[in-house]
Amino acid sequence: MKRKLKNIMVTGGAGFIGSNFIQYLFNNGFDGILVNVDSLTYAGNPENLTEIEKQHGEKNYFFKKCDIQDYKNIKDIFQQYDIDAVIHFAAESHVDRSIYGPKEFIFTNIIGTFNLLEIARELWKERDDVLFHHISTDEVFGSLGEKGYFTEETRYSPNSPYSASKAASDHLVRAYYKTYGLPCTISNCSNNYGPFQFPEKMIPLMICNALEGKPMPVYGDGLNVRDWLYVEDHCEAISLIMHKGQDGQTYNIGGENEWKNIDLVNFLCEILSSLTEINIEEYKKLITFIKDRPGHDRRYAIDCKKIKKVLGWSPGHTFETGIEQTIKWYMNNQKWVENIKSGSYKEWIRKHYK
Ligand code: NAD
Ligand code: DAU
Repeated sequence: MKRKLKNIMVTGGAGFIGSNFIQYLFNNGFDGILVNVDSLTYAGNPENLTEIEKQHGEKNYFFKKCDIQDYKNIKDIFQQYDIDAVIHFAAESHVDRSIYGPKEFIFTNIIGTFNLLEIARELWKERDDVLFHHISTDEVFGSLGEKGYFTEETRYSPNSPYSASKAASDHLVRAYYKTYGLPCTISNCSNNYGPFQFPEKMIPLMICNALEGKPMPVYGDGLNVRDWLYVEDHCEAISLIMHKGQDGQTYNIGGENEWKNIDLVNFLCEILSSLTEINIEEYKKLITFIKDRPGHDRRYAIDCKKIKKVLGWSPGHTFETGIEQTIKWYMNNQKWVENIKSGSYKEWIRKHYK
């Protein structure tokens, strides 16, 4: 493999998966240059990377507050750091927000990805020692019935503005590989959970509400199914693709860990009870069924045989250990939750990144 992987641009590195990924790389011996490009929307929080800043800041790690749609600034960063790999996480990522306001999803997820691809094409030209890795979602495949799995060959059938925008960006990446020979890989992953996830997503929302004694809102009949993966396992898979994945290939990543939403919420109550010594029934009383999400996909489930076979990846965490670690993390990081919910970390941003 000719890839250099010395000067990496991570987009969206102040978000949930991106910040876990940056920590994963440095904790696993990465010693090149990493430039984190993030516009710091409501979901981006540089506090996630305080430790990385301390250990690697201005030596191996650089943060740039920048929108991925900004042609001039992104091109300058590419040139300044001689970028040889883009690991592209930046996106509007929450399905409910896309239903009530799709515009940002079109701009960031489609136009932003297009902008990055154009700059990579312009600057990398015919180089084959570079990589554009695009992080995508299983939601592009639509909804499954009770049986079956999404494979890399499943037809795209996105149902929300979020998944439609991700599908469009996947197609653009694929087209840049086919048409211009830009070295690209794509991964489509199932639902992640773990530390640093914005508490609008189901698992951290349920944990935070339960800890505060607030209602735990379950959409519709609670029988929708998701396939949950611990975020560090996703990061490991991306790192493997980055090092060993083949140009032009797509890899599905999943937890082989399907849960009906209501069963999962009950399980959270059980673990919460064991960690707080509050009776499980006190938590269960908080479960509240509410109006369903419009166009709510019924079931997602990933077939990840390909990445297991060709790259030797498999999920390292059991759901029991992953969930317990996650709940403990939210219990021990209430300040982080308060900050991200109130947006008061914006003050921190103002001081650090003018
Ligand atoms: P997130 O919402 O936590 O983080 C997104 C980050 O992107 C934030 O830091 C935000 O500030 C930044 N960002 C948004 N718009 C930007 C722009 N225009 N320019 C620069 N930065 C911008 O998202 P996440 O859950 O960490 O998801 C990361 C990626 O992984 C997304 O592409 C998402 O589609 C994909 N994905 C997520 C999951 C999941 O379960 N969360 C599963 C599969 C795939
Ligand atoms: O499958 C991968 C996708 O997983 C990612 O591409 C998205 O970025 C990520 O947000 C996630 O999308 P979901 O819509 O599946 O995740 P969310 O946490 O929003 O919801 C999970 C399930 O829980 C879903 O069936 C809706 C339900 N839900 C969600 C919330 C926020 C509830 O019942 N109540 C809630 O309050």
